[in-house]
Amino acid sequence: METEKLWQQFKKKLAEVGDFEELEKLRVEFLGRKGKINQLFQKVTSLPPEKRKEFGQEVNRLKGKIQKAFLSRERKIKASLERNLTGKKIDISLPGKEVSLGHIHPITQMKWEVADIFQRMGFEVLEPQEVTTDYDNFTALNIPPDHPARDMWDTFWTKEGYIPITHTSSMQNWIYRHRHPPIRAVVIGRCFRNEATDMGHEHTFHQIEGVYVDKGITVANLIETMRVFFSEFFGKELRAKVRPSYFPFVEPGLELAIECVLCGGKGCSVCKQSGWLEILGCGQIHPRVLEEGGIDSKKYTGFAWGMGLERMIMLRMGIEDIRHFHSGDLRFIRKF
Ligand code: PHE
Repeated sequence: METEKLWQQFKKKLAEVGDFEELEKLRVEFLGRKGKINQLFQKVTSLPPEKRKEFGQEVNRLKGKIQKAFLSRERKIKASLERNLTGKKIDISLPGKEVSLGHIHPITQMKWEVADIFQRMGFEVLEPQEVTTDYDNFTALNIPPDHPARDMWDTFWTKEGYIPITHTSSMQNWIYRHRHPPIRAVVIGRCFRNEATDMGHEHTFHQIEGVYVDKGITVANLIETMRVFFSEFFGKELRAKVRPSYFPFVEPGLELAIECVLCGGKGCSVCKQSGWLEILGCGQIHPRVLEEGGIDSKKYTGFAWGMGLERMIMLRMGIEDIRHFHSGDLRFIRKF
């Protein structure tokens, strides 16, 4: 029987099929337009009339059987693809999961940007040593033990008597000892204070310190350097001014203010209607501090400044609470 022979042949081939591609080849071979089934149908015409009907029905039955076998084989291949290596069934029609790549934290982004601006202005950029000695954090800065000015910094101490730096000025003495004038250096790094936290204060925060030491450096150089930096950082020309302040390591000690970046000097809630933002402490480096660092204060003068990085980011990006930065709250982080 020809149909029976073809069925056996088909079953043998179907058993060898491993994937959809092979299955499709087999389908063309048997069910295609020029396939084996159609070839059988063509034989009908060569048969005597009384045998034609029976033969035709037989071939039709075979065709149906083959089609069914195809379908079930197709389902089996699909099911085996849906099993992963652990043997669990997975739904390959589910939409893919989005993979989060993460990105650079806003503080790091801004650290890089600030470093870039100062580098273009000719400053070397350094990182502070985060835990240091009483000498580097205080004494070398003209703040001897028991000096009341130590109260300006709520200091943490380690059991061994070291200090997680309370300000980046802790690097000043190291810089004077390791560089020769002209010195232009910026320190960007983390500082730590034993402070109660609120919207404007964190126990861990970043400062940007800068020193410029050379012959004939004055407060005029300081104001203009700061003005140029802030104009670059905020992307518009800003005015700057100073007023007296006090830090033991500078004389005169100053506080620098820039034109309010939000209202342009007209007065708003951020600048408390003054039109100015007090943004950093600075001044002419105290001669004693230069001498302590091995620099001849009769020959050289310089200026220094220290400012909070978070405050500047908050002003630039309209962030109202400093505690967001370390909250780990992804809703905050993802905004940048
Ligand atoms: N270190 C000072 C502070 O943290 C800021 C400062 C730096 C002031 C350099 C003057 C000169 O408050």
